[in-house]
Amino acid sequence: MAYNLLKGKKGIVFGALNENSIAWKVAERAAEEGAELVLTNTEVSIRLGTIGQLAERLGTIVVPADATSVEDLENLTDRAMEHFGGKFDFVLHSVGMSPNVRKGRAYGDLDYGFLSKTLDISAISFHKMLQVLMRKDAINDWGSIVALTYIAAQRTFAGYSDMADAKALLESFARSFGAEYGRKHHVRINTVSQSPTMTTAGSGIAGMTDMLDFAERMSPLGNATAEDCANYVVTLFSDLTRKVTMQNLYHDGGYSSMGLSEDVMRVYTQGLAK
Ligand SMILES: NC(=O)c1ccc[n+]([C@@H]2O[C@H](COP(=O)([O-])OP(=O)(O)OC[C@H]3O[C@@H](n4cnc5c(N)ncnc54)[C@H](O)[C@@H]3O)[C@@H](O)[C@H]2O)c1
Repeated sequence: MAYNLLKGKKGIVFGALNENSIAWKVAERAAEEGAELVLTNTEVSIRLGTIGQLAERLGTIVVPADATSVEDLENLTDRAMEHFGGKFDFVLHSVGMSPNVRKGRAYGDLDYGFLSKTLDISAISFHKMLQVLMRKDAINDWGSIVALTYIAAQRTFAGYSDMADAKALLESFARSFGAEYGRKHHVRINTVSQSPTMTTAGSGIAGMTDMLDFAERMSPLGNATAEDCANYVVTLFSDLTRKVTMQNLYHDGGYSSMGLSEDVMRVYTQGLAK
């Protein structure tokens, strides 16, 4: 059901690789709510994924950009402003990758070249994006910027490795930059801490299927799906949340407030009985 929450609004969505991507669902929901979009991803992801189909369906353009390249981000911002005929209102940063996770490096045996890449792609790209947007004065007053994160920034999760450090930095950038952008241009910046979700990036985490099952059993409302996430993000882009900024917002069916659920206890007890 659509509510016209984003009627007249325009925004950039980073990170739709394929139909499982959280960014894909956000783009679909934002369009349903009346937004005009520009999509972006790396050249490789555009080639290997299916973002072109999404752009065709939404009647919009895809601008290639490596989120670690300031030059690409400047070009993306210019192209989006040309496409929209001026400033725009929202951005979703849905970008993450860890070569250490991909290569299965243990946390006590990180490759530091890989760690730099993890931090650059998954966190510093957010600062670069924000700096380019503010320098170019690309976002309308009371605009909204959201990045996706995970609770491993606050608590240690086996297998999440250096992505946890990247997410901690990402959330810190949202607070620090939120103060500056809010004061100067009334632009709000938040991170949404999403349940584990079976996407291409998600499935790269070791033991993802068990992690999903554990989180499902722990969360009173069950895991939040990518579609649920899209609904939430759309409210954050809307005018209904104009004073929400510099927050890390859990979107996880209650998981982050749980210690132990009856369902998990039951599985554990049965496991011990075997
Ligand atoms: N899937 C989960 O369990 C989960 C949970 C919480 C948060 N998140 C976060 O959600 C976001 C989206 O991930 P997803 O799960 O939808 O997976 P996904 O694999 O569909 O999306 C990740 C995207 O990052 C893009 N990307 C990688 N390197 C890039 C670069 N240098 N420049 C620009 N884009 C680049 C990829 O092309 C891809 O589109 C990530 O930040 C991820 O950490 C995912």
